[in-house]
Amino acid sequence: MRIAVARETEGNEPRVAATPETVKKFKALGAEVVVARGAGLASGIPDAEFEAAGASLADTVGDADMILKVRRPTAGEIASYKKGAIVIAIMDPYGNEAALKAMADAGLTSFAMELMPRITRAQSMDVLSSQANLAGYRAVIDGAAEYGRAMPMMMTAAGTVPAARIFIMGVGVAGLQAIATARRLGAVVTATDVRPATKEQVESLGAKFLAVEDEEFKNAQTAGGYAKEMSKEYQAKQAALVAEHIKKQDIVITTALIPGRPAPKLVSAAMVASMKPGSVIVDLAVERGGNVEGAVPGQVVQVGPAKIVGHLNVPGRLAASSSALYAKNLLTFIDTMIDKKEKTLAVNWDDELIKATMLTRDGAVVHPNFMPKTAA
Ligand code: NAI
Repeated sequence: MRIAVARETEGNEPRVAATPETVKKFKALGAEVVVARGAGLASGIPDAEFEAAGASLADTVGDADMILKVRRPTAGEIASYKKGAIVIAIMDPYGNEAALKAMADAGLTSFAMELMPRITRAQSMDVLSSQANLAGYRAVIDGAAEYGRAMPMMMTAAGTVPAARIFIMGVGVAGLQAIATARRLGAVVTATDVRPATKEQVESLGAKFLAVEDEEFKNAQTAGGYAKEMSKEYQAKQAALVAEHIKKQDIVITTALIPGRPAPKLVSAAMVASMKPGSVIVDLAVERGGNVEGAVPGQVVQVGPAKIVGHLNVPGRLAASSSALYAKNLLTFIDTMIDKKEKTLAVNWDDELIKATMLTRDGAVVHPNFMPKTAA
């Protein structure tokens, strides 16, 4: 059983899919581990640390039985893998059907970590949570860094500095961590979401909840715990409430997403224009279309009184932490695929985690969400 850890080649991706700690665990499970030279550098892990953990170094990951990546492999990478190899990554499968077909055509068995079901057993394998949590933290740090004033109230001999007012829009995993981080920094925090369950979570973190709480709001959560797209009427009422609130905020952090849809537009150009000079908006949804009008992917732009921060790959901005958690997510998932006695790969194809995440196998796209229409 040969496991390879690839070096990321696309999108300036600084994360890596393994750490010395997970390499040691793979070795203990009976695997031989190969790490591509330089794979961990951008996450602060020199090759020597992987070697000390028992990995060997190589220029290519060619003949491995299993390849661990952060991002979906490129056409060039796919061509270098052996037929039948297992590839595990954050595959970004939606809208990328051609790339999935290329993995199928190459005979790869591929798994998308972001499709992991959100059930108790798989909590430690949940990459959406591990990465969103760090992104929520980093959004507050990035917002604070762009903001020309202090976060906490400070009473000094030279006068009082008021606490910053921070408004968090979207209270999933990222939003909750953003609230906690902003509170720790001493800001006055408010938050909004369309799922009623979030109200109590917001309040338990010491922030104030703000939303139009009508009948539609009371039914806005899907069975899976995700947000639904709200009616035009609700959106208008909520926008009016938010418009009044935003005028008084110093920093706004948006994290709102709806699975399988573009991010909802929550902050209009008029709302941006109504803010105080020196305000900062951080749009964590910028890669999915953005919550904020005027946000530019990959840039910090000044729009009227406010700076709009649109960093891409925010988890990658704390690559050492995000790699460590991602590597652990992979380890716990792969652990389920190994026969501990025989020390061999033994994938249970009927396991619900395997079924939910497997994209391609035996030359075909096998995930029901991505099967070609004719075959489905
Ligand atoms: P997400 O990343 O899909 O969305 C972020 C937030 O945006 C959500 O809270 C959503 O309700 C909110 N949102 C969507 N449209 C909005 C709008 N128009 N205005 C304001 N907010 C809006 O969500 P994430 O972080 O993936 O969490 C989704 C759910 O999954 C949560 O209930 C979370 O607690 C749950 N979860 C469960 C886990 C488990 O059981 N293992 C693990 C992680 C999360």
